[in-house]
Amino acid sequence: MNLSVLQVLLGLVLIKQCTSLNILGIYPYHGKSHFLVFRVFLHELANRGHNVTIISHYPEKDPPANYHDISLAGTMKIIEDNTPVEKSYMTLLDVSVFLGTIGTENCKVMLANRQVQNLIKQKPKFDVILVEQFNTDCGLGIAYKLGAPVVSMSSHTLMPFHYQRLGIPYNPSYTPFHFLGGGSKPTLYQRVERVVFDFYFRTMYSLITQRNDQQILAQYFDDIPPLEELARQSKLLLLYQHFSLTGSTLYPANVIEVAGYHVKDAKPLTGDLKKFVDEAENGVVYISFGSVVKAATMPSDKVKAILDTINELPYRFIWKWEDKMLKYDKNKLYISDWLPQVDILGHKKTVAFLSHGGMGGTTEAVHFGVPIVAMPIGGDQPANAAAIEESGFGLVLEINDLTKENLLASFKKVLDPKFRERVKEISSAWHDRPMRSLDTTIYWTEYAARHPNFTFRTTAADTPYYQFIQLDVYVIFAAILAIIYIIFKALIYLCCGSKTKKAVNKKSKRQ
Ligand SMILES: *[C@@H]1O[C@H](CO)[C@@H](O)[C@H](O)[C@H]1NC(C)=O
Ligand SMILES: *[C@@H]1O[C@H](CO)[C@@H](O)[C@H](O)[C@H]1NC(C)=O
Repeated sequence: MNLSVLQVLLGLVLIKQCTSLNILGIYPYHGKSHFLVFRVFLHELANRGHNVTIISHYPEKDPPANYHDISLAGTMKIIEDNTPVEKSYMTLLDVSVFLGTIGTENCKVMLANRQVQNLIKQKPKFDVILVEQFNTDCGLGIAYKLGAPVVSMSSHTLMPFHYQRLGIPYNPSYTPFHFLGGGSKPTLYQRVERVVFDFYFRTMYSLITQRNDQQILAQYFDDIPPLEELARQSKLLLLYQHFSLTGSTLYPANVIEVAGYHVKDAKPLTGDLKKFVDEAENGVVYISFGSVVKAATMPSDKVKAILDTINELPYRFIWKWEDKMLKYDKNKLYISDWLPQVDILGHKKTVAFLSHGGMGGTTEAVHFGVPIVAMPIGGDQPANAAAIEESGFGLVLEINDLTKENLLASFKKVLDPKFRERVKEISSAWHDRPMRSLDTTIYWTEYAARHPNFTFRTTAADTPYYQFIQLDVYVIFAAILAIIYIIFKALIYLCCGSKTKKAVNKKSKRQ
């Protein structure tokens, strides 16, 4: 008995040693909301005995064992996005330029980093390399130099330029578009919109961003293959979404939906926030527009609409907001520029969430089953908001429609018992998976390391475009039809042509 326990333990130790992987993570983008998602997974990798080296703008103050930072901190201005709280085609056109400029800058500072350069020079053996897929493919160049299998990761739904590389079908008629509303049931107008912006985003990415990144890489190395080609070589894509919220989508087997792993258990609230929530008789509504939207950019009539709504409803409100000048009833509203979001959303008194629809907060709300009134502003928020509404998890309220009446109506709807039942159902389906999302993410990372010699890419990604749309087959059919037509014509001419002529001759003789 004792012996067998010992054997099992020994076995476990051996397994742990055998499967301990040397993992590199490349996260060139400096937006905090992205890295906060990945961080939980990276810590867990180290926690499970893998040797983790992370290139990012967010080094750990007190890194756990096996966790090594290559810090890019301080090399970029941290994004205090002053995206205007206003939606227009102009803003959308700007977004592409903004993403590309930032992406190229991210690439530059990463390659200029001494530690990154040393790493490439020393070329240690990595079993797998994690690369964030967002606004630059620069990290793929580094992964190429180090020669290890690549696993791509995202902290959001796919961007327009990420479909083709892995052969993921994009059809504007039913595929939600990252930057626009309409979800999986767009109107004709929204489809036209999508086709135009899809083309625009893809073209800008390949002609400007990717070309710039390729040139920057070429300043350091003279053998980097085209980045799009490297992107196609990535083994897997771990996508931060789940069909219980975003709907069933067509993905090849190497695109895995893993959303949810960043959400930790809610801790009890403390201090005056705890007192405020405890004393809320009818529950609490949480308001946050993320770290990106600033009070200074919110029109005052919109702020007033929110305040008026707060005064009208029987709930207490907690608002993540940094406007120190705002006048409000402290008995109804609690304002702070920093709040423990997960602990608030996980509190049993929290009944609704007014949000911009970022993927982080949306994921947390689904985790805890708190309905959302989504006011999408930029980035992936329109697509997330559409998914929230389509699934029945919440409602969309466009910022342009933000009035006291509309906001009251939205809250009334999501707080309806029937609606909340549906929300709880979705949350329950979200959690109901064969493996927890953190385990799934780790499983597939290890899987890619175990099978380095396979490409799991669908052949759809390798098929030349003219074959993909069957152009050659149609040409053949068209040719056959044309030949049949010509033969037919010729036969008619041969067999009946002379008769017709005679007939015509007879006719003309009679006349
Ligand atoms: C773990 O990673 C660090 C930093 O990249 C490296 O110095 C060390 O040699 C690695 N350890 C093993 C066992 O691979
Ligand atoms: C992958 O291929 C290489 C070269 O053919 C071989 O040495 C290696 O054992 C293979 N790896 C696995 C895990 O099968």
